[in-house]
Amino acid sequence: MLVSATEMLKKAREGKYAVGQFNINNLEWTKAILLTAQECNSPVILGVSEGAGKYMTGFETVSAMVAAMDKSLGITVPVALHLDHGSYEGCYKCIKAGFTSIMFDGSHFPIEENVAKTTELVNVAHQLGLSIEAEVGSIGGEEDGVVGAGECADPNECKMIADLGVDFLAAGIGNIHGKYPENWAGLSFETLAAVNEKVGDMPLVLHGGTGIPDDMIKKAISLGVAKINVNTECQLSFQEATREYIEAGKDQQGKGFDPRKLLNPGFEAIKAKVKEKMELFGSVDKA
Ligand code: 13P
Repeated sequence: MLVSATEMLKKAREGKYAVGQFNINNLEWTKAILLTAQECNSPVILGVSEGAGKYMTGFETVSAMVAAMDKSLGITVPVALHLDHGSYEGCYKCIKAGFTSIMFDGSHFPIEENVAKTTELVNVAHQLGLSIEAEVGSIGGEEDGVVGAGECADPNECKMIADLGVDFLAAGIGNIHGKYPENWAGLSFETLAAVNEKVGDMPLVLHGGTGIPDDMIKKAISLGVAKINVNTECQLSFQEATREYIEAGKDQQGKGFDPRKLLNPGFEAIKAKVKEKMELFGSVDKA
């Protein structure tokens, strides 16, 4: 059931669990995540970066595929179709294409410009019933061409952006997209606690979910994080399972070359990873 992410994240924040945002790349990813959410009776957010949208031939294709798949698989758990790290133009494209949620990543603009653009997009999104996420303090590393320095958010700026009426807020707390380096200092819970105190009961978003140790995930949830984004970990799971299949020569046995067979181990690996994360985040049976 396609919905905005507002209600599911409000409930998650109140219930002290988090909803996973899993980024999609193609049909296999989308089907694996939707089926797992249904099996786990969990709400879910499908994240689409601008790069992935382009790869799938545009946001309209993505929106039509997700809506049709949601219907044909008989998905009854709440599903939000969300633009990840959207540009100003990208947000308007997704609104037009039928997404149910957008993220405007204005973190690289001066704060005044971030405020002006976020205000405008909040109004447009809310008029049409979409939810909207904003970002303060950049997330480190690279996500599909969006590069961030990874500085911690200023809690006062978080309050300023939260007060514009966004539905959930991503605050940089030392988190990084992709794999964490050996010498990573860990999440700054000091920053998270300060942001949490400033923004009241606003659901907070933790980007860069790949590779964050389980105890840090749980602590982050206890400090107001209600949405956790995972992308790279699903890609790695898919890659490892596909490699194993090919290295075992299974693509050369019988009709093992059939794409439906060739892609199946990766598909199953994504399902297992998503289930593992839903259990860790506490969203199972919260649909
Ligand atoms: P990872 O790729 O590190 O899991 O980050 C995902 C993310 O934050 C998407 O916005």
